[in-house]
Amino acid sequence: MKRHLISAADLSRADALLILDTAEELAQLADRPIKKLPTLRGRTVVNLFYEDSTRTRISFEAAAKRLSADVINFSAKGSSVAKGESLKDTALTLEAMGADAVVIRHPASGAAHRLAGWVQGSVLNAGDGTHEHPTQALLDAFTIRRRLTGGRRGAGLDGLRVTIVGDVLHSRVARSNVLLLSTLGAEVTLAAPPTLLPLAVGSWPCAVSYDLDSELPKSDVVMMLRVQQERMSAAYFPSVREYSRRYGLDAARMARLPDHAIVMHPGPMNRGVEIAAEVADSARSTIVEQVANGVTTRMAVLYLLLGGTEFPAVTQ
Ligand code: CP
Repeated sequence: MKRHLISAADLSRADALLILDTAEELAQLADRPIKKLPTLRGRTVVNLFYEDSTRTRISFEAAAKRLSADVINFSAKGSSVAKGESLKDTALTLEAMGADAVVIRHPASGAAHRLAGWVQGSVLNAGDGTHEHPTQALLDAFTIRRRLTGGRRGAGLDGLRVTIVGDVLHSRVARSNVLLLSTLGAEVTLAAPPTLLPLAVGSWPCAVSYDLDSELPKSDVVMMLRVQQERMSAAYFPSVREYSRRYGLDAARMARLPDHAIVMHPGPMNRGVEIAAEVADSARSTIVEQVANGVTTRMAVLYLLLGGTEFPAVTQ
């Protein structure tokens, strides 16, 4: 594996399967009374968050602590960033404090890549602007594999049909998922209004559809994306009501899915916009499971990137 994880494209199929298999091993920790392993003892992980986060920030912190790493949490709010300190100077300051890995979330696409050029330790992209969110794609792949193939070690997602729906234009989750899921053998389709698709989508390894209803009956997985109104500087659809009518997943639409199909959402959700509450809370929904899987998947990434000591067999 490479030293950094900036893009899902950094992962070969073998790399991705190694992460999923390691996460599967580590998931067994969750059932033990003591959930900690000594494997990253003496290492320091810095969480460098310039943008709001609930799931990613907390799960990276939990993951590092469960592997016994020391964790430094840095939030741009309340720091010297408010006095104009640059990302480079902030990163070098944190590195001087002994960071072995820096987990970065930043509103600017490309920030994680820039950071990797300045620091000695590993850089993990926890979401950069509208670019990528590779560990979200890994936890999504882990969730799909567990639900639809029983989490079999070494198995990819070959032949599974994944439909990613909605605001692709502003979504780093969509880009990372298209790259990773296709590497793992899934057939990915983006279903969105033309205004919410990037111009370059033709070069992505996926199909495109404007008609969600026709995609649902052939989907094994439907992944709903948050409508990112805070990133929208123009009108991308006539109204929220119209968007929900065409691209929102409600109970009637969910009924068009095959019996085995699952519904995913990376969170945070706009209930009643891209997903109805009754769908989000249904038995098909993996949304809470995705959060739990985020901890084990991020543990696997930290363990493999930081070359932790071998962990004892978790099976009891
Ligand atoms: N899915 C995701 O990245 O959520 P947060 O913004 O809460 O981290």
